[in-house]
Amino acid sequence: MQDKQRQILVTSALPYANGSIHIGHLVEYIQTDIWVRFQKMQGHTCYYVCADDAHGTPIMLRAQKESISPEALIERISEEHQADFKDFSVTFDNFHSTHSDENQWLANTIYEELNKKGHINKRTIKQAYDPEKEMFLPDRFIRGECPKCGSSDQYGDSCESCGATYNPTDLKNPVSAISGSTPIEKESEHYFFKLGDFEDKLHKWTRAGHLQAEVTNKLDEWFEAGLQEWDISRDKPYFGFEIPNAPGKYFYVWLDAPIGYLASFKNLCDKTELNFDEWCSADSDTEMYHFIGKDIIYFHALFWPAMLEGSGFRTPSAIYAHGFLTVDGQKMSKSRGTFITARTYLNHLNHEYLRYYFAAKLGSGVDDIDLNLEDFTARVNSDLIGKVVNIASRCSGFIKKRFAGKLSAYIHDETLFKIMVDTNKDIANAYEAREYSKAMREIMALADKANQYIDGHKPWVIAKEEVRDEELQAVCTMGINCFRLLILYLKPVLPALAANTEDFLNITPMQWQDAALPLTDHQINKYKPLMTRVEKDHVDAMVKESKEDLNLNETKQEILTGPLADDPIADEISFEDFMKIDLRIAKIVKAEHIEGADKLLQLTLSLGDETRKVFAGIKSAYAPEDLEGKLTVMVANLAPRKMRFGLSEGMVLAAGPGGKDLFILHPAKGAEPGMKVK
Ligand code: MSP
Ligand code: ZN
Repeated sequence: MQDKQRQILVTSALPYANGSIHIGHLVEYIQTDIWVRFQKMQGHTCYYVCADDAHGTPIMLRAQKESISPEALIERISEEHQADFKDFSVTFDNFHSTHSDENQWLANTIYEELNKKGHINKRTIKQAYDPEKEMFLPDRFIRGECPKCGSSDQYGDSCESCGATYNPTDLKNPVSAISGSTPIEKESEHYFFKLGDFEDKLHKWTRAGHLQAEVTNKLDEWFEAGLQEWDISRDKPYFGFEIPNAPGKYFYVWLDAPIGYLASFKNLCDKTELNFDEWCSADSDTEMYHFIGKDIIYFHALFWPAMLEGSGFRTPSAIYAHGFLTVDGQKMSKSRGTFITARTYLNHLNHEYLRYYFAAKLGSGVDDIDLNLEDFTARVNSDLIGKVVNIASRCSGFIKKRFAGKLSAYIHDETLFKIMVDTNKDIANAYEAREYSKAMREIMALADKANQYIDGHKPWVIAKEEVRDEELQAVCTMGINCFRLLILYLKPVLPALAANTEDFLNITPMQWQDAALPLTDHQINKYKPLMTRVEKDHVDAMVKESKEDLNLNETKQEILTGPLADDPIADEISFEDFMKIDLRIAKIVKAEHIEGADKLLQLTLSLGDETRKVFAGIKSAYAPEDLEGKLTVMVANLAPRKMRFGLSEGMVLAAGPGGKDLFILHPAKGAEPGMKVK
């Protein structure tokens, strides 16, 4: 029934360790997790490994802002990421870090091998340097006026206004985004990987079936432009691995990031009986797949195979790129409340709704996918609740009440059962080819057939005539069998629903080849509701919380883009609206840490006659003892808001870019608690 047992290593791109997982990332982790679960259900040996991508300038700077070591930052983020993945049923066989011994060892080994073979070059280049911060500036950390159109506050490498790309040195009136000082040009020796040495091999490799057709086409443009040497070193200060025999020079984060795939797998091998060399040496007959977003194709389809080839490791069997997530047709946006973190989603909705919705949308190509929140609610309710779970709730009651939980000894409609079983091949092919939307369509078409069967036989009518008991049991048994098959086919997508179903049906964990076996003459357990409907209120509350998270959540986006780019100024309000805000002087009588909160402090504020407890996202900038006894300004008439750590009865005003640079307002002398601010 199945082809020979395969040995498969699967990865998803390593998330950066300086921000939270959001629903855009989840497209990838859910896509990969579904594929891995499918392979495991087929009986193949399959390992799914990942890690945090822990190195680089943004992570170093973020740690500095929070006044903690980079190690402490990446440790904390790793825990957060792993909790998010777990709660979305994204189940890695190993989750590691690029800041690990295995990764350092592998990065050194690969680099030294490439160096020995003459694939590394050294040359002095000129680069922008922040004289105040005493560090070289990555392009993204230089801002200035676009040399083409003159727009202000543009990045060092491209203009968001006119789309021009250029060198940081072309920017007019450049400033360092870190210190605000004017960058100078400074020379430094850099290490380069000679990608051009691999031009022929790569040209062949990229058209040998390892890539999607549209990716190969994209790469052709790059081949035509010529493969440039790749700058793989960065000067200190840098959070990363120092290059062997090159004091003060570090591997660029993108050099050791993909090596992190192998490092995570090596870490797994060292903990188990697995043999790393058998899987990763050049002549390995195992398979290795990387799932990635379309923004990082260059690194995975050119640099990575060249590095592996040049250092004697196996190359990937395939790279599977996917498109980007939009929400309601637009880029995720903080001000619209559609920049939804994994945790905010989980605070309101069942994770399997999203897994199903993504599956229903995902194909094998690199097209972007859209999460339309109305469609999400409608689709999950109509498919999962209306078509699938309903079958169980309609049939199980009679089996329990009238037949003490016992299923009939035979299948009532052999033809329908055969159709349902035989379709397993088409569904399996669709999963294998990452055509999940096709798989979901096939499964829902079967669900329609099962519902037609039930509607045709009307168990609720048969149930009224006692003489038709046997028929009632047979019809409900048939319904339960249809339900079981639907859940078996959905199991890669909905593992929690499948596990609850296995409990309810009193069966061992379903494997793909179990499809053909009917469930007859078998005792099932009492039905408990398996999944509830998506409520619009909960979706709205999630969007609302995402808007509220605005000033509390710092992510990659915030560090890397201008404040207005992601948070356009909100709709105009009237003067009357403004006057509704009652700002009062408040005395901070107590400031406390909150267990488990990274950013929040709890403040007890006195307004003279009244005290309020509020949460403020200023922990990165203030220690509680610095605040106690001070005066500040609060919004006193804000409706109390339930937050993760309790009720917040107002808001204090603070401003600044974030991290350490966040200032709470201090009124002038003579102010008294309770006084109105005008
Ligand atoms: N750290 C690098 C990857 C190194 S892999 C050796 C990185 N990290 S990331 O956190 O920015 O992104 C992780 C993955 O999530 C990438 O594959 C990226 O394409 C994907 N996505 C990030 N935002 C996304 C959407 N909005 N939509 C879909 N995928 C997205 O890149
Ligand atoms: Zn421009």
